Parts: sequence; structure tokens; C-alpha cells
Amino acid sequence: MSEPETDNTRAGQPPPVSWSEVKLSTGTPGLDAMLNGGISKGRVILVLGGPGTGKTILCSRYLYQGAKEKDERGAYIGMNEPKSRFMGEMRSVGMDFGDLERRKLFSYVDATDVRRIPEQARVGRIPVGGKELGLVNLIDAVETLVDDFSPQRIVVDSISDLVFRFSTLEERRPVVLDLVESLQSSGATCLMTSEVLSTGDERTVQPEEYLAEGVILLTAPKKGVRSVQILKMRGSNMDTKARPYTIGDSGLVVLSTEEVY
Ligand SMILES: Nc1ncnc2c1ncn2[C@@H]1O[C@H](COP(=O)(O)OP(=O)(O)OP(=O)(O)O)[C@@H](O)[C@H]1O
Ligand SMILES: [Mg+2]
Repeated sequence: MSEPETDNTRAGQPPPVSWSEVKLSTGTPGLDAMLNGGISKGRVILVLGGPGTGKTILCSRYLYQGAKEKDERGAYIGMNEPKSRFMGEMRSVGMDFGDLERRKLFSYVDATDVRRIPEQARVGRIPVGGKELGLVNLIDAVETLVDDFSPQRIVVDSISDLVFRFSTLEERRPVVLDLVESLQSSGATCLMTSEVLSTGDERTVQPEEYLAEGVILLTAPKKGVRSVQILKMRGSNMDTKARPYTIGDSGLVVLSTEEVY
């Protein structure tokens, strides 16, 4: 008796491309090469760096690229600065977010009040921890944003003020976890920024580095060149070497074939 007929129509065909293999361009010259094509769709990536290293410019360029090249909706959740200052600073490095906003491709969410919630706040007459309220407000803001705007790209800049209000690493971990989970369930591909607390080989790894699915570190030593290094990128090949970058009138440029000595 012959073998029952089997469905061989799929035999020899490549496996379907999984969602995590679709890459989104960052728009920063040289960075996509380091990332083997860009950021994997649906991931939550941390951009870590000291003050003035270019975190905001890098993340904004990522939103700008998606909107300009692919008509993808991008949302920026700003914890540090009001909208007008953000728009002005980004215009000075060649990005007109006002134009994207008019075309319904950009939304600015002002979350600066999260920082202003006192340690002890009240809901009605009930005293609650202000630190927790800040986190709840931010997660609410993400949910409202997803309902109203369905962004394909989200930036949260920065999570430091929110997270550092919790004094111990044990307290910080669930805060970051809640935020990362809320961003993951948004369906968007997300960047969040954070201040780096220590530098050098002995530096302390921060909880957000464990919980994010990828980490891009920007370093600007007092002497020497600025450098960018990908510390991790789950499910993707990457260039692990530190590469030099510059900041100029059009933002960051990574010299992805040069090394930092
Ligand atoms: N046109 C320009 N030419 C050269 N450098 C520039 C230009 N515009 C901005 N910069 C540099 O970019 C840096 C600011 O970038 P950005 O605001 O993205 O940094 P950041 O890491 O977000 O800073 P912060 O920690 O304050 O939020 C500064 O160091 C500034 O000197
Ligand atoms: Mg910034």
C-alpha cells in the first residue's frame, strides 16, 4: 500500500519571515549598519548615555525617519522638556516636527508633570506614594496614546527621573518592568532613554539594561571622541565594537567602519 499523500507544497520554501526579523531604519547614518539593518519591529530598546551625548536627537531622528520615509506615525513622550523647546531644538538639527504633526504623523505627549508629582500625593483624600503615581500616569499616557493615535514608533525620553525616585535597585526593577511591558503591549517599536550612572569597565549595570530588549550606549569622554556601542540586541546580529560618532547640523553621524582607540 502506498504512503498517504502529504502536503508538500511548503517543502523547499524558506520559513516565513517572523515579525521580529522586520527591521526599522533609525535614520542615523551608520547606525543601521551596526544594527544589521535597523531595530527589530516590536522591540523595546534602551538608549543609554550621559548628559548631552545626543540621546534626544538620535531618538527623534528615528521617529522622523519612519514618518518621512514610510508614513509611519511616531509619538514622543517628553519627560524633560515642554513641546516648544523640543520642537525648536529638533528644528536646529534639521527636523521639522510641526510639518509631521500637521500631517498626523507625529504626536508630542507632554509628560513633564510626572516629575512634578511630590513624593506623597493624594487621590481624593487618600494619601498615595507620589513615585508610584508618576509611573501609573506614564503607563496611562502610553495607553491613551495607543488608543488615540496608534503609533508605529514610540520614544520615551527619559525614564531616569521616574526611575531614580525609587532609591534601591530592588525597587527600580518592577517600575522599569511595568513600563517595558506597557510599551511591549503597545505593538509599536519603542526607544526609551536613560542617564548612565557610571562609566568605565567597572560600571554598574542598571535595571533598565536587563529589562530592555536591546541597549545602545552613547559615550562622550571629556577628552577623546564620542562613541556609540551596542551592548545587546536580543534576536539580532550586531556590531559589538564601539564606533565613533559626531553631532552636527543634521544630527548624529556614526562612522561605522572606524574604530575607537
Ligand atoms: N548643530 C549642532 N552641531 C554640533 N553639536 C550639536 C548641534 N546641535 C546639538 N549639538 C550637540 O548635541 C548635544 C545635545 O543633544 P541631545 O539633546 O540629543 O543630548 P541628550 O543626550 O538628549 O542630552 P540631555 O541629557 O541633556 O537630555 C549637545 O552636546 C550639543 O552640543
Ligand atoms: Mg535629551
